[in-house]
Amino acid sequence: MSGRSRRARPAHLLSALTLSVALALTAASPATASPAAPPTAPATAKFPPGFMWGVATSGFQSEGSFPDSNWTRYADRKASGVTDPYGNSVDFRNRYPGDLKLAQGLGANVFRTSIEWARVEPRRGQRDPEALAYYDDLVRRIKADGMRPMLTLDHWVYPGWVADQGAWDNPRTQEDWLRNARFIVDRYKGQGVVWITFNEASSYIYKELAARPMDLGQMLKMRDALIRTHRAAYDMIHAVDPGAPVSSNVAYGSPVNGIFDAALFNDATDKLDFIGIDYYYGANLQNGTAAYALMGEFWKIDPEPEGLYYVLKNYQRRLPKLPIYIVENGMSTDNGKPRQDGYTRSDHLRDHIYWIQRAMADGVKMMGYNYWSLTDNYEWGSYRPRFGLYTVDALTDPSLARRPTDGVPTYRSIIANRGVPAGYVPVRKPGWCSVEDPVATCFGTTPTPPAAYRLAE
Ligand code: BGC
Repeated sequence: MSGRSRRARPAHLLSALTLSVALALTAASPATASPAAPPTAPATAKFPPGFMWGVATSGFQSEGSFPDSNWTRYADRKASGVTDPYGNSVDFRNRYPGDLKLAQGLGANVFRTSIEWARVEPRRGQRDPEALAYYDDLVRRIKADGMRPMLTLDHWVYPGWVADQGAWDNPRTQEDWLRNARFIVDRYKGQGVVWITFNEASSYIYKELAARPMDLGQMLKMRDALIRTHRAAYDMIHAVDPGAPVSSNVAYGSPVNGIFDAALFNDATDKLDFIGIDYYYGANLQNGTAAYALMGEFWKIDPEPEGLYYVLKNYQRRLPKLPIYIVENGMSTDNGKPRQDGYTRSDHLRDHIYWIQRAMADGVKMMGYNYWSLTDNYEWGSYRPRFGLYTVDALTDPSLARRPTDGVPTYRSIIANRGVPAGYVPVRKPGWCSVEDPVATCFGTTPTPPAAYRLAE
């Protein structure tokens, strides 16, 4: 066995069990109801000129100097899942002009972040002029640096006073949220903003369940509140900022995707201008996804780039009229250490882009792609999983220097060349029997280019 080949893992048994459950679940899920037609030709399509290439981050995760909020409280009291103090994160709040230049240097034409409600309105009814001046300048600079702002209105963080009134348990929060959202949309309307209402409703609910925590009744209430609020926000944004695209990005949930979609997506398909998907992990009988996810060791999961191909086709089949935007895709490393199998950030990036190109060749309508993330940041309780194209030692380097990873020149060249070249052979060989398309992948119809994959199963 070469150093690059995989070791036998006890996790396989758990994966197999999970997969059986998943197959039962996904068989009933509309997203995977009809068998995906296996790709017939090795054709890839170049990304069109003007394609939206972005980098994504969120305010709380990167800004630092953060006001009282649900998440500063979770971090302070080491809620479930929190291991590291938040500190000053990577100080995006003060370093944003330089970080925007890094994004511009990649050739990106979209910059995604969130406008943090807790910063804008730290006390009910009182807006902080300094916070507004910061966000005004941020939006102005994103545009001046040749990028289009993609602004998230809620990336899982709300002000402390909202926590005190019972968060989403309290119907008043829906009104307060919409009032703040209207103010933000009105302030940045007419500037080409792409709006995201709620980031990953399923993970939002899950994080609140674990960290706040909530019981089942509160969870169902929160789901209901997010659906209502998204639907109202969609109409509000169209009235205030006509023509601006609006969506709520779904977290792709592999074995439990049916449950993830039930958080909001299933009840919002008529209130989306594009399908926003965050794709990180796919599960198959070889990659131990479920076991590592349960242990919180996401960096150990073997990525499944080909899963993205099936996911794109499944969602496109479900909503054929809407274009798809990959709002987030990326790979974490264990505190910046290289993966044991040698799979690099560049490999990961190129392989995913390759499979998107395959999906486009099969007719999937792609609108944009964002890499998560520009820099490492606070991964909801820990600095250990590192997703950044630029790495930052948030806990140990007081200068918070941004150091480029191998992903920087790779993403730059992908953007400049509108994808990976024809004839590119993915580094990772497709896994066997994938949740993402059991029919195609268990029965050997997965596309297999004749050339050898560098990283074989
Ligand atoms: C979230 C991000 C998170 C990323 C990596 C997504 O679920 O939107 O906030 O950092 O995944 O785990």
